[in-house]
Amino acid sequence: MSLRVPQIRHDDSDELAALCKAGGDPLRLNVLRALANDSYGVLELAQIFATGQSGMSHHLKVLAQAGLVATRREGNAIFYRRALAQSERVGGMLQTALLAEVDELELPAEIAARIKDVHAQREAVSRDFFARAAEKFQAQQDLIAGLPQYRDSVLAVLDALDFGAASTALEVGPGDGGFLPELARRFSRVTALENSPAMLELARMRCSEEGLGNVELRLADALNDEQAAADCVVLNMVLHHFAAPADAMKQLAQRVQPGGSLLVTELCSHSQSWAREACGDLWLGFEQDDLARWANAAGLTPGESLYIGLRNGFQIQVRHFAKPDSRSELTHR
Ligand SMILES: C[S@@+](CC[C@H](N)C(=O)[O-])C[C@H]1O[C@@H](n2cnc3c(N)ncnc32)[C@H](O)[C@@H]1O
Repeated sequence: MSLRVPQIRHDDSDELAALCKAGGDPLRLNVLRALANDSYGVLELAQIFATGQSGMSHHLKVLAQAGLVATRREGNAIFYRRALAQSERVGGMLQTALLAEVDELELPAEIAARIKDVHAQREAVSRDFFARAAEKFQAQQDLIAGLPQYRDSVLAVLDALDFGAASTALEVGPGDGGFLPELARRFSRVTALENSPAMLELARMRCSEEGLGNVELRLADALNDEQAAADCVVLNMVLHHFAAPADAMKQLAQRVQPGGSLLVTELCSHSQSWAREACGDLWLGFEQDDLARWANAAGLTPGESLYIGLRNGFQIQVRHFAKPDSRSELTHR
């Protein structure tokens, strides 16, 4: 009688075991929860979870081996984000179910408070930069891309949307106000929210030089302002200065009227880490898919986009995201 050796596929069971091991620890589950909408460096995560850097590195390694987190290199820094679940892969269904359960977790208050601290530290870096940079703003911008390089593309996307004469616009982070004359010509009323007093002053000078009577400039943090919704919300090269861009998109989507649009002009993901120091950038551009995913999570639908390659190697994405008109949806049902 011959003995049959059972066929055990170690590779598959190893992968499942790695997933179960990664999920079998409360701290790692909370790390996954914290990474739902954001990516963090290991030092930031160590701060958020009040643990040592080497301990956090170990947890991240376990999560990475299980395919639950992925890394993104930003210049010299490595950021951890949640990996996208792949349903066709071994453990894919378990991963999807695990993350769905994780998303129901409420982060302990002290962890949520330390996430806020990390965001505030990121924001302070960006604010300090623009406080110091006002007088050489144009030169700094031109290091990567200045408005002349993306103005026409933003206008092409904007004009294709055909806003009515009574429509309103909100520009977030207008900087020296270079785009405000274009908005003032196309919209009945324009509001601009700028959190740097020095930059706001430049924008104010531009508005008075150009006699823009329908533009209201406000010194405000766009993410902490109960501004009324507008038909078109514009962010030109601003998102990469936000501490938590996915959350920011969610908040700004609320400032878009139903049936209106969010226009985002951004750098595509790049590896030029000097941009942090030289231009106050918190993020080295964004993956096109990330912007679409964040927009979807914010209840917006990706529309037409334009991509501009620059001679210095940077790429710009001009993205349109539409907010469904709830009234027309109701009448179409
Ligand atoms: C790179 S500049 C872009 C300026 C302009 N939109 C352009 O395309 O030339 C980013 C601007 O966003 C502003 N900003 C950054 N975070 C902000 C916030 N939370 N609220 C309002 N403005 C913000 C900065 O002060 C700065 O003026």
